[in-house]
Amino acid sequence: MASKEEKEAVHHHVLMVSFSAQGHINPLLKLGIRLVSKGLHVTLATTEVAQDRMFKSFAAAAATTTISSVSDIQLAFFSDGFDMDYDRKANLDHYMETLGKVGPINLSKLIQQHYHDKQKKLCCIISNPFVPWVADVAVEHGIPCAMLWIQPCSLFTIYYRFYNNLNQFPTLEKPDLTVELPGLPILNPQDLPSFVLPSNPFGSLPKLFIELFSNMKKHNWVLANSFLELEKEAIDSMSELCPIRPVGPLVPPSLLGQDHENLFDVGIQLRKPEDSCLEWLSNQADSSVIYVSFGSIIDLSAKEMEAIATALKNSKRPFLWVVKKPEFPTADKSGEIPQGFFEETKKQGLIVSWCPQTKVLAHPAIACFITHCGWNSMLETISAGVPVIAYPQWSDQPTNAMLVSDVFKIGSRLGTNEDGVVNSEEVEKCIEEIIHGVKSEEYKKNAMELKLAAREAVAGGGSSDRNIQLFVEEIIGS
Ligand code: UDX
Repeated sequence: MASKEEKEAVHHHVLMVSFSAQGHINPLLKLGIRLVSKGLHVTLATTEVAQDRMFKSFAAAAATTTISSVSDIQLAFFSDGFDMDYDRKANLDHYMETLGKVGPINLSKLIQQHYHDKQKKLCCIISNPFVPWVADVAVEHGIPCAMLWIQPCSLFTIYYRFYNNLNQFPTLEKPDLTVELPGLPILNPQDLPSFVLPSNPFGSLPKLFIELFSNMKKHNWVLANSFLELEKEAIDSMSELCPIRPVGPLVPPSLLGQDHENLFDVGIQLRKPEDSCLEWLSNQADSSVIYVSFGSIIDLSAKEMEAIATALKNSKRPFLWVVKKPEFPTADKSGEIPQGFFEETKKQGLIVSWCPQTKVLAHPAIACFITHCGWNSMLETISAGVPVIAYPQWSDQPTNAMLVSDVFKIGSRLGTNEDGVVNSEEVEKCIEEIIHGVKSEEYKKNAMELKLAAREAVAGGGSSDRNIQLFVEEIIGS
């Protein structure tokens, strides 16, 4: 039996394993910093391509060594079996398949190399959704395993029921079927995540979800980047099937008024933000600026860019628009600013290629956010109390947009034609409505209430803080 001194000398470690994308790594890092604050030692492992491609917004470190640290979180990298210059996005199916074979072998080696010391007790491996094979590695090594779900709990409910055939969903024969699930409003096909629709063309990602949901029993805990007060009904309704514990919102502590609590902001940036836009915002009146951004992946078509541009110009209001430099410019000019727009609106607004979004949303000059409803952006706008105009594109975004308008009631969703494309009159109408319309006060009030609820959830003794504390006690005791 171990003596008291020996027991005290044991350090409790957690290994977090992420798919190498900004929106996947960042919530895990933010959870990691909270686990560190509760006394655990945390390492985040991801593939070497993240080390190569992403520059870090924090201390320089990591680029040249195999393991380094971010604040108090160690970083470790393993090979995904491809060279750095291989285009993973263009060959996603092949990439995911290979990662599913090579990843477990290399992760196993990493575990053997880093956790052979008796004083270092690896008490839990935490993964996120695009690496479902991590649960198999954890089982093989006899280590308890948790997953951090990085989309709303409402999405977890939908996928869980879909992949376990618990409810009827639209089919090619019945494409207009509505779906009634406990804890959620009645869902029309346009409210469902694109992966569950019969028309879904994105092969490898739904396959991953099939694997994930069939591996769910191998997870001892399912944590979620959400908070109880935001999605209470969906979370309560899941509890009998597969309990899910919200531990969020996992956003910068400064957005939650916690910058004084020794919680560092950790995160990686895919692109370099143009910080000068904060100065520009400071010269604008309070609650006057329309902030527009569609996240890290989506490039709108030329027609959609034109509609947004025309509406912004006609609104005569100041705007800050993030227009990324397309990674691979296309002949149809998708994702590009319409010709002449920049010159015509130089005095009215600012266009940047990437901004420090969380600081932008927290700025008093921001009036509303036109967004694709990626879940990170949603949690950030909720934590900042900023109302939303939703223009969802794929994956979880249509459901997130439904949550915005029908559940959280912090904004509206742009209407589109049958091809899902918006026109400028609709954008203009929604801008006016969110700023001055009959529901604008209600949106603002609801957004402010959710902002306070988010702060309470993560503060000491709040619902998410309690869930993290309980999780820590359970993994140390297991
Ligand atoms: C992806 C999926 O598209 C989305 O559906 C899913 O919910 C999460 O993963 P992405 O499209 O990048 O994410 O959107 P989002 O989740 O909103 O994440 C974007 C992140 O980039 C946010 O954290 C945001 O703060 C950051 N960002 C965006 C910037 O820092 N600067 C910018 O200019 C724009």
